[in-house]
Amino acid sequence: MKLKEIIRSLDFQPVKITSPCPHYPLCGGCQLIDVAYPQQLELKEQIIKKAKAQTCPQLPVTVQPVIPALDTTYYRNKMEFSFGCKDENIYLGLKKRADFACVIKTDHCLLQSPIANQILQWASKYFTASFQDSTSPLYPYQDQPVWDHLKHKGLLRYLGVRHSKTHDQFLINLVISKDERPLFQDFITKLTAQFSQIVSVYITVQDTISDTAFSENIEHVFGTKTISEDLNGYQFEISPLSFFQTNTTQAKVLYQKILELADIQPQDLVMDLYCGTGTIGIYVAAKARQVIGIEEVEQAVTNARLNAQHNQVTNIEFYLGRVKNILKFNKFEPNVVIVDPPRSGLVPKALQRTLSLQARKLVYVSCNPVTLFHDLQIICKSGYQIKHFQPVDMFPNTYHLESIVVLERN
Ligand SMILES: C[S@@+](CC[C@H](N)C(=O)[O-])C[C@H]1O[C@@H](n2cnc3c(N)ncnc32)[C@H](O)[C@@H]1O
Repeated sequence: MKLKEIIRSLDFQPVKITSPCPHYPLCGGCQLIDVAYPQQLELKEQIIKKAKAQTCPQLPVTVQPVIPALDTTYYRNKMEFSFGCKDENIYLGLKKRADFACVIKTDHCLLQSPIANQILQWASKYFTASFQDSTSPLYPYQDQPVWDHLKHKGLLRYLGVRHSKTHDQFLINLVISKDERPLFQDFITKLTAQFSQIVSVYITVQDTISDTAFSENIEHVFGTKTISEDLNGYQFEISPLSFFQTNTTQAKVLYQKILELADIQPQDLVMDLYCGTGTIGIYVAAKARQVIGIEEVEQAVTNARLNAQHNQVTNIEFYLGRVKNILKFNKFEPNVVIVDPPRSGLVPKALQRTLSLQARKLVYVSCNPVTLFHDLQIICKSGYQIKHFQPVDMFPNTYHLESIVVLERN
């Protein structure tokens, strides 16, 4: 069962409040913004219980109450908006609920910072004027200025906005469909003059029909290459393709909880699988003898190595590659393994090879209760027991939820 099906199957009838968002319910970004926050947390607990009942009802688990988020609005540090166009007016927005070909104008998103909203509004106005101006280098594209998700053509695709909450600095990634980067020089000059907080700009060419803002064809065109974020005294550099927890305030809570629950001993070798920019590994390294991180995105590993240096963490090393491959071709004997995979969970070979490490303790950090329980069932069959199950709300107003599960070998 998928997460959405689980939610539909629940008998949850919350008292509705007036949505503070002008784009709700058309926009598919927030599903619960018209539900009072305490009830959102109740729903999230029910989702976990239902996901468990569906997959592994026999597994003994005591789920702790969800740790609530400190901020319920303006909490995201990263968002990607699609371009849309109506009556020659270009706008930015999120996809319409249940209709991924339709972009809803969402230039006042309550999940991202107010300045990010101003950036969207400014960019919309700039492009509307430019495609109509015969002296603009963009004018030749006036017939198909924005990407059509059904016809698969059009120049402008996404605007990615990344915000360092610590330093109030922005990294912008403009995604276009053709290698026409020189046409955007004027845009970058005026955008960065308008918003002094923008310290870094990239342009990505994404010419495939797949609906993603990610592409290796990315070029740094302005300012610094990274922005940095501080988490409880550690500083992390972030590149546009690197994963970083999207809720900075709650990331501090999440990592502190991982550190506490992992209960690492001074002689422990700790593995941080799916390590992104090395955040969890660096965060726990002071407690451990040695930490090894594994991550498949090159930019993230480059960030991770620099992050370790800048934070003077010397007992950590990073491997670039897929978890299943690195574990196949190297021999490790960790005491504690922390896994934080993508929503899809661990692929069978990665799971089998993680289990064959035979660590004393496994800490599974997951943003998807469905794949989490699927994997937990296999992990428990192989001789681990769940010792602690701690949900942490990183995504208020949406039905998504993070969980930390601590398992020990019998
Ligand atoms: C949920 S993120 C966790 C990142 C990190 N632990 C953090 O807290 O910032 C998952 C990470 O796994 C990486 N990833 C996805 N599939 C992978 C694979 N097969 N092998 C290694 N890394 C992978 C992604 O690039 C991403 O950085």
